[in-house]
Amino acid sequence: MKRFLPYFKYLRSVRTQIWAAVACALVFGLTSGASLPILIKYVFPPIFPSAAHAAMPFFRVILIAAAIPLAFALRAFSGYLNSYFIQAAGVRILESIRVDYFRKLQILPLSFVQGKSSGDLISRGMSDTGQLQSTLTVLASDGIKQPVTLLGAVGALVLLALTTKGVLLVLVSLAIVPLSVFPVRYVGKKVIKRAYQMQSHLGSVTGHFAENLAAAREVRAFGLEEREIGRFAVACRALITSQIKIAKYAQALTPAIEFIAAAGISVTLVFAYKAGLDLATFVAICTALYMSYEPIKKIGGLNNELQRGIAALDRLEFVLHAPVTITDPEHPVPVGRLRGEICFERVEFAYNAAEPVLRDVSVRIPAGTVCALVGPSGAGKTTFINLVPRFYEVGSGRVAVDGLDLRSLKLSDLRRNIAVVSQDPVLFNDTIFNNLLLGRPEATREEVMAAAADAHAHEFILSFPNGYDTVVGERGVLLSGGQKQRVALARAFLRNAPILILDEATSALDSQSEQFIQEALRKLVSGKTVLIIAHRFSTIRDASLILVFERGSIVAQGTHAELYAASPLYRSLYDRQHQQVV
Ligand SMILES: Nc1ncnc2c1ncn2[C@@H]1O[C@H](COP(=O)(O)OP(=O)(O)OP(=O)(O)O)[C@@H](O)[C@H]1O
Ligand SMILES: [Mg+2]
Repeated sequence: MKRFLPYFKYLRSVRTQIWAAVACALVFGLTSGASLPILIKYVFPPIFPSAAHAAMPFFRVILIAAAIPLAFALRAFSGYLNSYFIQAAGVRILESIRVDYFRKLQILPLSFVQGKSSGDLISRGMSDTGQLQSTLTVLASDGIKQPVTLLGAVGALVLLALTTKGVLLVLVSLAIVPLSVFPVRYVGKKVIKRAYQMQSHLGSVTGHFAENLAAAREVRAFGLEEREIGRFAVACRALITSQIKIAKYAQALTPAIEFIAAAGISVTLVFAYKAGLDLATFVAICTALYMSYEPIKKIGGLNNELQRGIAALDRLEFVLHAPVTITDPEHPVPVGRLRGEICFERVEFAYNAAEPVLRDVSVRIPAGTVCALVGPSGAGKTTFINLVPRFYEVGSGRVAVDGLDLRSLKLSDLRRNIAVVSQDPVLFNDTIFNNLLLGRPEATREEVMAAAADAHAHEFILSFPNGYDTVVGERGVLLSGGQKQRVALARAFLRNAPILILDEATSALDSQSEQFIQEALRKLVSGKTVLIIAHRFSTIRDASLILVFERGSIVAQGTHAELYAASPLYRSLYDRQHQQVV
């Protein structure tokens, strides 16, 4: 229960509804627990003539008869209002929890998000938040309604005890109530284990879904349809098995408690006979007992709900409490527009502790330099440039811009000074214009079009019937690889940042487009620091500084002429491509 306390803050914004719900719960509980036993003991008997009293006048009987539906109407209406208010508050809470979860995902380091299955992260954000909402609202509603009902019923029993001679009997029948706690606890323990399993199975079903949709082309190309269906069916079966197990235990609770209730009634019957109770008192006691077992059962259900909520909470807190390792420093050095000098000083980096990816990398890239990175695949080029916008944190050593350690700058200040075109650029499912505007939201339409022209994209965009208003589809799938790349380039050009990072940014272009962009680049990059990874040496040759990477180290650096003379690796890479071209 304590675990949920921090989350009751979400109830604050809906406190009016909650208080209204609490008031309704009180009315509901009292009318449910106490009204029937009291009616049976005190109101009904005088209606029937007996030795103790004569028949009641007819109009009083009518009055009493009319009071019964009224009492039930009050109970039903307050129950209804309670549920409604709780539901209304619940959806608001769900919204806040979900947005907070999403917010956290935005600030977590890239390595956290990349290391997880996206389906699982989605499932946590959708289904576990839903479960948490359900738990909080059930706690808020049944958490009050049921104990009050129980108190009402116990109150009625106490009233009966005080006004009749069978006090002992009432105490005995009450003593049976705590027995119901055993099945409640047993079932609760069983349910929680399965609840964890179920939520993680749900995550894997969503994971399969997401992965399959992302790989729609591969599935068809490699004929993986049956394999995918099989994998999905297995995941679904695992989910359903865990759901059935939860049902098996959770549904056992009602019969178990009813059995205990029946035992309670039979004990009461024997004592009633011994104590010489009258029928009305006996029936009233049985009703009060019955009315108290019902809330116990519900409170037991509450326990199950609580266990499921804890499982969901654990899965959510895995993300909500995950350390944000890449953060703003406490006292950031204020910077405006950077000049763009980049220094790596004895940088070591590893994605996972076992395997260093960058080893003792030191290099100074003066501001305004076009610096090309070359080297075999997997040598660490992308990793190197990813450290500049601080997507990852160095293991040891430091990266500095303009002589300032990256960790001394505000992340937003640093990243505002950098434009990136990544190896696999992603566009949002929006118009081309809006995608471009992401580079610099305050840009004018003219500036957007100029950037598109520089990236050799203006013409093809205009050739679409909707021009700049063409919607590009999820991740930009409705554009060709080269078109997507040019939009991504234009987006980066528009940013007009002092540091430009291009990771294979022209790899999908034909050589003519690439040449065109080369010329545009020459114009655009004057005064900027450019880090460029390209496989085509036509792009690399003109760079004023070339870094040669091999297995995580910079093994040589210089201009094309210098490296061709001095670095065997560079020469062999260059010659190999040269032969291919010829
Ligand atoms: N997110 C990641 N998590 C774990 N390991 C990674 C990750 N990204 C890259 N690696 C590993 O780090 C090493 C360097 O990868 P990197 O992407 O920097 O190579 P690269 O030089 O850019 O290669 P390419 O020319 O093929 O793009 C590789 O061995 C790769 O397997
Ligand atoms: Mg790469």
